[in-house]
Amino acid sequence: MKVAVIGSGTMGTGIGQVFAQNGYEVYQVDFYTAQLEKSKDIMTKSLSKLHSKGLVDGSPEQILKSVTFTDNISQIHDADMVMEAVFEKLETKSDVLSRISDTVNDKAIIGSNTSSISINKLSKFVKNPERFLGVHFFNPVPIMKLVELVTSEKTDPSKLSDVKKILIGLGKDPVTSQDYPGFISNRILMPLIREAILVFEEHVSNAEDIDKTFRLGMNHPMGPLELADFIGLDVCQDIMEVLYTEYGDPRYKPPIALRNLVLSGKLGRKSGSGFYDYEVKK
Ligand code: 3HC
Repeated sequence: MKVAVIGSGTMGTGIGQVFAQNGYEVYQVDFYTAQLEKSKDIMTKSLSKLHSKGLVDGSPEQILKSVTFTDNISQIHDADMVMEAVFEKLETKSDVLSRISDTVNDKAIIGSNTSSISINKLSKFVKNPERFLGVHFFNPVPIMKLVELVTSEKTDPSKLSDVKKILIGLGKDPVTSQDYPGFISNRILMPLIREAILVFEEHVSNAEDIDKTFRLGMNHPMGPLELADFIGLDVCQDIMEVLYTEYGDPRYKPPIALRNLVLSGKLGRKSGSGFYDYEVKK
């Protein structure tokens, strides 16, 4: 079975990797060649870690033989399943979904890794939308077992069960959600992160103690501010905007402190600083 992943950022790379390490042939696509280089590098490092612990069969070199890194989307024409993992912007996703639909055969399963955009809305850009659904992975994809599956009004239930079986074969443990903004995960996670930012903004406590409260008091692997930095503050803001717009409820409104960090280019780990300064901390 051939799988294509469109978009080779952190999430797309992780998704391509888990398919490849489980024996699938993978087309790893990005429209920027420099990003494809980064993607290969990230995959190699992750596979080396997993291989050294005996968690994957085959060396990174052997596994990477099954991955075709390409900037040419027409190469994916014979893919049986396509995962869209491009920027969390409706215009970008709709354009890419139309191009995928024009390229693959009518039966190929098409999934979107969107974290907040409506699957019903995205399904309008897919030919034969009964084969389309949300397949939301979690970062870091090679480690996190959860995948959230989201159906549109048009998704064929047999496609949902096909995708579930495929994911279980990858060692994932999926949950299903209706197409409500934020699905299960981000509808609950974003208000937690938002409230933590308000506690920080109101000087109730400092970032370290807010996070320590959740690490030591609730056994979360990361506190909410560390997690926001890990996800990306721009991504958190985008998701909160979608939730706020769709539900019209102020409990989702992006806090001013978050907006200011994003405006100043402090996007969390990926930019070197956010609630924490990574160049100094690590
Ligand atoms: N590939 C392979 N191995 C990896 C890896 C990767 N990409 N990332 C981490 N690891 C391994 C490390 O090598 C390490 O292995 P070791 O224990 O043998 O040394 C192990 O995982 C733990 O990593 P670290 O020692 O670096 O650090 P931590 O113990 O803090 O674990 C973490 C890192 C797994 C990221 C953990 O902190 C965690 O689970 N954090 C929460 C992550 C989370 O909540 N993700 C979901 C975000 S929400 C989302 O994605 C949805 C979106 O829509 C917003």
